[in-house]
Amino acid sequence: MSIRLRLAGVFALVSTVLFTVGGWLFVSQLSASLQGTIDAQLAVQLAQAARVLPASGAPTTSSAGPAPGEYVVQVVDGHGQVRGGSADAGTSPLLGAGDLQRAARGRILETVAAEGERERVLAAPLPGHRGWVAVAGVSLETMDATLRHVTRELLVAGLVLVLGAGFGAYGLARAALSPVERLRREVAELSEREDAPGVRVPRTRDEIAALATTMNQLLDRIRGALAQQRALVADASHELRNPFAVLSGELELAARPGRSRTELALAVERAGEETARLARLTEQLLTLARSDEDRLPADREPTGLLRLLTRSADHAAARALAAGARCEVRVPDGLTATLDPDRIGEAVDNLVDNALRFAPSGTPIVLSARAAGRTDLVIEVSDSGPGFPVEFLPHAFERFARPDSSRARRDGGAGLGLSIVEAIARTHGGRATVHNRPEGGSVVALELPGCVSEPTASAPGPRSDL
Ligand SMILES: Nc1ncnc2c1ncn2[C@@H]1O[C@H](COP(=O)(O)OP(=O)(O)O)[C@@H](O)[C@H]1O
Ligand SMILES: [Mg+2]
Repeated sequence: MSIRLRLAGVFALVSTVLFTVGGWLFVSQLSASLQGTIDAQLAVQLAQAARVLPASGAPTTSSAGPAPGEYVVQVVDGHGQVRGGSADAGTSPLLGAGDLQRAARGRILETVAAEGERERVLAAPLPGHRGWVAVAGVSLETMDATLRHVTRELLVAGLVLVLGAGFGAYGLARAALSPVERLRREVAELSEREDAPGVRVPRTRDEIAALATTMNQLLDRIRGALAQQRALVADASHELRNPFAVLSGELELAARPGRSRTELALAVERAGEETARLARLTEQLLTLARSDEDRLPADREPTGLLRLLTRSADHAAARALAAGARCEVRVPDGLTATLDPDRIGEAVDNLVDNALRFAPSGTPIVLSARAAGRTDLVIEVSDSGPGFPVEFLPHAFERFARPDSSRARRDGGAGLGLSIVEAIARTHGGRATVHNRPEGGSVVALELPGCVSEPTASAPGPRSDL
């Protein structure tokens, strides 16, 4: 059922209940107040009942019954004989024998039904005449007619009110929801057309405008993410295509007849290199995909920073030697931190790997760690190379980002190394930063908050030279 119908139904129901209760209260109040007036009048009539007794004691007679709204008074003796009465009082008692007996003992007030009509009767012993009863009565027809009339009017008014409430609520809901319906139509159109600019934001500054704005923001975010995803897939396939092309070329060459042993060995070596490149790329993509899903595990344990950085330096030792560079590890005495040694080791390896490509021969690559603030840990890898191109600095941690792809691809990777470093810092609740030193060279830092349990006061100094 639509919201409009539901609202109309609820409004109609609520107004029915309210009006019924209100009407009932009104009618019963009115009835009670009319009856109160009648009873007071009856009491006045009864007090003057003695006046209707004829001087002779013979009953006055009258032919017709009491006219509606007119008070009649009777005096009835102990034998049920009407001894006197007002005009229209009639000759038969207004009360039955039983009621008369009760009235002879004490005052009674009741409503009796006579000839399909209700009468209000007040009776009491007549002072000065033992066993005699004074009776005052009045027909309730006028009151009943008034109440019936009021009830009928109320019913008509109630019906009008309920219909008005129902239709009014329907109309109001329709008017209020029409912008929502328009929004829905626009969104439906959007899902069919990708280039649609977004939904129109009304200038009303109300909830609907806020909803439209939020929808557009959501749409922008989804489109941004989609574009990023597409670019990533395009970049990834591009990066994968190259090694595959080289690999199949090598294999094709090797398969030609008349290849010498040396040529074959060379082809296998190149094929091996490309396979390693492919494996590395796949591994990197997998790591990034996991970090996107927040599934990159960080098995934290207390780790000695000196050992961790020394291990990375050891990994790079052979390549450093070949490049004529050397790694220096600088860690304050006994600095330990709670982190995932494998992940952080992988990040530092990536940084050292980059630094080795850029550090000029004979210059040091410095791997350092220090406590910052009370519990934060900063790990830095710096070199004395040319530094990052300034315009590339803001994009250094983006995926597949390289300042000059033709040059970088020759000796570097696909441009995923730094994004993995950043992902690892993020899984530790931290971040990665990069800057160029004024004296030349670059510094890439991992800032990991809350890792250090016992802050170390001693300043960093060289602990091991490799
Ligand atoms: N220490 C560094 N000095 C200068 N440039 C660097 C350094 N480290 C990285 N870069 C630049 O950043 C780019 C991205 O690095 P990275 O994400 O590790 O990708 P890759 O190593 O696969 O090229 C590199 O191609 C390089 O141009
Ligand atoms: Mg790299």
